[in-house]
Amino acid sequence: MDDLRQKYLDAVAGATDESALEDIRVQAMGKQGEVALKMRELGKMTPDERQTAGPALNKLKDEITSAIAAKKSALADAALDERLRHEWLDVTLPGRPRPQGTIHPVSQVTDEVGAIFADMGFAVAEGPQIESDWFNFDALNIPPEHPTRTEMDTFYMHRDPGDDRPPHVLRTHTSPVQIRAMAKHGAPLRVIAPGRVYRADYDQTHTPMFHQIEGLALDRDLSMANLKWVLEEFFSAFFGTGVRTRLRASHFPFTEPSAEVDIQCSWEGGMVKVGEGDDWLEVLGSGMVHPKVLSAAGVDPDQWQGFAFGMGIDRLAMLKYGIPDLRAFFDSDLRWLRHYGFPALDVPTLHGGVNR
Ligand code: DAH
Repeated sequence: MDDLRQKYLDAVAGATDESALEDIRVQAMGKQGEVALKMRELGKMTPDERQTAGPALNKLKDEITSAIAAKKSALADAALDERLRHEWLDVTLPGRPRPQGTIHPVSQVTDEVGAIFADMGFAVAEGPQIESDWFNFDALNIPPEHPTRTEMDTFYMHRDPGDDRPPHVLRTHTSPVQIRAMAKHGAPLRVIAPGRVYRADYDQTHTPMFHQIEGLALDRDLSMANLKWVLEEFFSAFFGTGVRTRLRASHFPFTEPSAEVDIQCSWEGGMVKVGEGDDWLEVLGSGMVHPKVLSAAGVDPDQWQGFAFGMGIDRLAMLKYGIPDLRAFFDSDLRWLRHYGFPALDVPTLHGGVNR
């Protein structure tokens, strides 16, 4: 028994890794292991012999088992020490600076507008930027030869000769989303539709791509009074101050009657300030949705009526944040973006950004 003990304790002491330890365990205590075989011999012993041999064998088994466990943890400690010698980290080093992006004013304003209208029960609708001319014009009561089609400086998609499908255009306004939303959801309805629009135009206040936000509300008995209230609520929340509006009679094919909407402002030293003074600034087009437009979208004009409006998001951003040149919006100049951009965690609220 002593020889056996010495043999295995020496083997354990000399093992250099876990698999060697496992081999030793099997050799000693596996089914055919030396100690296991000795245990089996107990059956053939006299009760007296068994009384001494049994406990001794059990003790031997325990000794080998705990020697293996101790060696195993010693090996693991040694391995960890070895890793720590090689792998180390200087936690006193300064962090690596990461470039921080900013939220573009157009995105910021889109979110702000969305939050304000959401509070008045308007959902957000979207439509494609490449639009069929039916959605962009016909359904909005703009017939084929109507001057608006050229006034809007429309970009037409290329068609191969012989391809006589009706034309597709880059949408010239967000108004086609009115049609899509009505056709999909019917009435009653309250949606806004922000997005990119395109017109062949380029100067300080015009870029070939810009952003609009469309509004549409349908119900049994909506009127221009509801329109005016909604807009005044919107502008006051957006500019963070009471803003009066003025409706001027106008013409759009898709509304009857139609109105252009001005907001109250002052001009001082070449600076425009919204919500004070006696001047007026035109900011949007609006009106009661034309019965033909309702019909085109499958809404019964004898049952439902409503108002619609459309305005430029970029214009709103310029006004609210004092940005003088629209073209800079889309130049991707990092200095401009850092100056006018918003921190990524500046989540818009109803009055977001007003008192920055
Ligand atoms: N679609 C018009 C434009 O781009 C703006 C507009 C005017 C939208 C009147 C409307 C509206 O919904 O009722 O100039």
